[in-house]
Amino acid sequence: MIQRPRRLRGNAILRKMVRETRVDKSSLIYPIFVQEGDNIREEIPTMPGQYRYSVDRMSEKLDSLKKAGVDSVIFFGIPDTKDEVGSGAYAEDGIVQKALREARRQYGEELYLITDVCMCEYTSHGHCGVLCGHEVDNDQTLKLLAKTALSHAQAGADMVAPSDMMDGRVLAIRNELDQNGFTNIPIMSYAVKYASGFYGPFRDAAGSAPTFGDRKSYQMDFHNRKEGIKEALTDIEEGADLLMVKPALAYQDIIREVADLVEVPVAAYSVSGEYAMVKAGTQLGYVEEERMIAELAIGAYRAGASIYLTYFAEEVARLMEEGVIG
Ligand code: PBG
Repeated sequence: MIQRPRRLRGNAILRKMVRETRVDKSSLIYPIFVQEGDNIREEIPTMPGQYRYSVDRMSEKLDSLKKAGVDSVIFFGIPDTKDEVGSGAYAEDGIVQKALREARRQYGEELYLITDVCMCEYTSHGHCGVLCGHEVDNDQTLKLLAKTALSHAQAGADMVAPSDMMDGRVLAIRNELDQNGFTNIPIMSYAVKYASGFYGPFRDAAGSAPTFGDRKSYQMDFHNRKEGIKEALTDIEEGADLLMVKPALAYQDIIREVADLVEVPVAAYSVSGEYAMVKAGTQLGYVEEERMIAELAIGAYRAGASIYLTYFAEEVARLMEEGVIG
């Protein structure tokens, strides 16, 4: 008998009926850049359509996210000054801490506030930890990461997400949070994070490119799969409540493998370079933006992610609303 898979493709309603990947707006997280200063809404040159907001103007974006049905954001901070030990990361009046207090005041429980926990936006050398000579000192950094996560929780964060890739940071953060009464704050670990050229536009946005060397001594080598599994399992053992794989686009095999293996929710982060490629390709007239956005998103979900971080969160929510995807 001839097999006729086309039978299920002949009608738009039927095609939707037999979709294998079902997605929902509640799984979307939007990364937002907040910057010191007043009255700032500055476009990021390498990420057209994305902006850095001062705290007094971030509600312009937060309101429109809420309206689109996106209820979760992850904050990235851009401080005024940087130093060797990244003290802006854990300052009580640091930029992320101020943004959290203001978002909480304005939105109460209506927005879910996640923070990226890392040092690279706050260190003068741009590395994700403190240095000992030209090396990032893992264990000294752990103390500062824990301090940063605690200060975020104290300022109102609902969840913290360490992205530094130091060994042992989930445990260090869990202990610090627990000892200070924040046993209920979940940790979403950037567990499987590769050293990637796809982060270029982000570093432009956050001014966080390292001033010397690269991140290859702490972020993963993109050739490795088993090492990614090890990172995932280690972070679960240390107490991570959710895991992330990052980037999303060139790493769908890793998303699948981690999702099949672990019993916690898995998030995929479609990073700045993925966004920039779509935007640049669209501007040149080479690709159709909406279809690319849709396929990037469904690709991550189909691979096994149940949470999706994307600069296109509003667009993805609209595509879901319209039934184009989902
Ligand atoms: C901080 C951090 C980075 C990203 C998320 N958290 C940059 C980096 O590791 O260099 C990248 C996000 C993106 O490219 O969209 N360490």
